[in-house]
Amino acid sequence: MIKQTFMAALLFIGFILTPSLINEVPAQQSDNRVTQGFLINPVPLVNIKGKNLALVGLGSYIVNAQGGCNDCHTCPSYTPGHNPFSGGDGQYNAFNYLAGGVPFGPFIVSRNITPDQTGKPAGLTFNQFKQVLRTGQDPAAPGNILQVMPWPVYRHMTDQDLRAVYEYLSAIPHAEPGTCSGAGE
Ligand code: HEC
Repeated sequence: MIKQTFMAALLFIGFILTPSLINEVPAQQSDNRVTQGFLINPVPLVNIKGKNLALVGLGSYIVNAQGGCNDCHTCPSYTPGHNPFSGGDGQYNAFNYLAGGVPFGPFIVSRNITPDQTGKPAGLTFNQFKQVLRTGQDPAAPGNILQVMPWPVYRHMTDQDLRAVYEYLSAIPHAEPGTCSGAGE
């Protein structure tokens, strides 16, 4: 009983303190996700001119350490011989990185989310991109909902995190898919 009261008190204090603590600590000092994002990014960043580098690094962190985009959007996902599911070191396949082409059953294939000729990831403006990740509306077939893409999870990201993902995807090189038979191959 005493323990429960103590826990309840801690939770309550946590509620009051957390927002003020977050506000006081500048983003760069409070976490090293930006640095880690640059460390784990598998491709040259070919288009960073005029970009906010903190956002690009954070975007890489979200895409490469949390989002799992590589497993579904890179075909094959790992450099041949490096597949972590078969004992490899898990090195992402930089050559076809995020260029889509991963089949999910006979009808669904993941899309190319690298920049198109105009430099826009998947050919989408930021507002269109945000709309896709928030609502799952298929930009290629209006009225249809993306059936595999985990947008029901991604839609809970903050605007800033979605912006970071978009900035990162705008900075990576255009690529084309290779050959693979499923996600995480
Ligand atoms: C479980 C597999 C899976 C994961 C993980 C995943 N995607 Fe997808 N994504 C897909 C598939 C498949 C499609 C297309 C068809 C569908 O979902 O029905 C798609 C479509 C998209 C589209 C729409 C592109 C267009 O123009 O049509 C965007 C943008 C996108 N994904 C971005 C991302 C990003 C960014 C991440 C990581 C944060 C991610 N996806 C993670 C499977 C996935």
